[in-house]
Amino acid sequence: MTTHRFDPAFTDNVINAMGPKTTPRLRKLMAGLIRHMHDFAREEELTVDEWMAGVQMLNWAGRMSDDKRNEGQLVCDVLGLESLVDEITFTLAEEAQDAPTATAILGPFFRADTPYRENGEDIVKTKPADAEMTFMHGRVVDFQTKQPLVGATVEVWQASTNGLYEQQDPEQVEFNLRGKFKTDEDGKYSFYCLRPTPYPVPNDGPAGKLLELMDRHPFRPAHIHIIATYDNYRPLTTQIFDRKDKYLDNDSVFAVKDSLVVDFVPRENDPQAAIELKYDVKLVK
Ligand code: BEZ
Ligand code: FE
Repeated sequence: MTTHRFDPAFTDNVINAMGPKTTPRLRKLMAGLIRHMHDFAREEELTVDEWMAGVQMLNWAGRMSDDKRNEGQLVCDVLGLESLVDEITFTLAEEAQDAPTATAILGPFFRADTPYRENGEDIVKTKPADAEMTFMHGRVVDFQTKQPLVGATVEVWQASTNGLYEQQDPEQVEFNLRGKFKTDEDGKYSFYCLRPTPYPVPNDGPAGKLLELMDRHPFRPAHIHIIATYDNYRPLTTQIFDRKDKYLDNDSVFAVKDSLVVDFVPRENDPQAAIELKYDVKLVK
């Protein structure tokens, strides 16, 4: 027997078509996804042309994606989904314990193969003419005891002043503006980098088209990405944002959190950098 597509029983039929070999979590996720998609189509009275436009966006995102470009993730980002999922994950973890350093989204420009570097090293391997050199340093500590974590890993990456990450830009040497550092015997890490600058997310694909259709700008506030890890501690993925940035209140991917806004300050007597940023990372078990 068939039911009218507007009838919610149709949605139940689709959900109940799942077989017994699905895991409970997959069954729950798929049921929720199907229900929300059907409700969305019914509530908005989605037309075939509108649905097909969405399908073409998905296909376009797939065609554009490879190991240097993650357009599917970018589409989720401009729709706020990665930031929402990040917030849910952080809030659930926080309910279990006090707040450590807040998380933020990974974004599509992380590279798993970033090399280790020595503390104090300069990650600016291709230096732009308008570089504002910055010394970033701090400690990785246990959130509750404040004890330094010796041998913790701090990985960072940032875009250059032209708004591009090294894998997007043939003019930058590989792994420019990226590095992994191990904290020393006092739990300290340090490196030279650029004062980050705002940049537009790639907007020559479906994510950019969506932004244009929604009458939104593509800019992200100036930020530095961080992943910090230490044995038995919860791995931290986050970003820190320059308090002076004009896009703090309207990040195109909704990733800014108040506790992640930082102050870059003048640095004295260092020929390598006129600015510094001290940032302690607080990890939790
Ligand atoms: C980033 O910060 O690298 C980023 C995050 C989301 C979308 C695009 C870029
Ligand atoms: Fe970024």
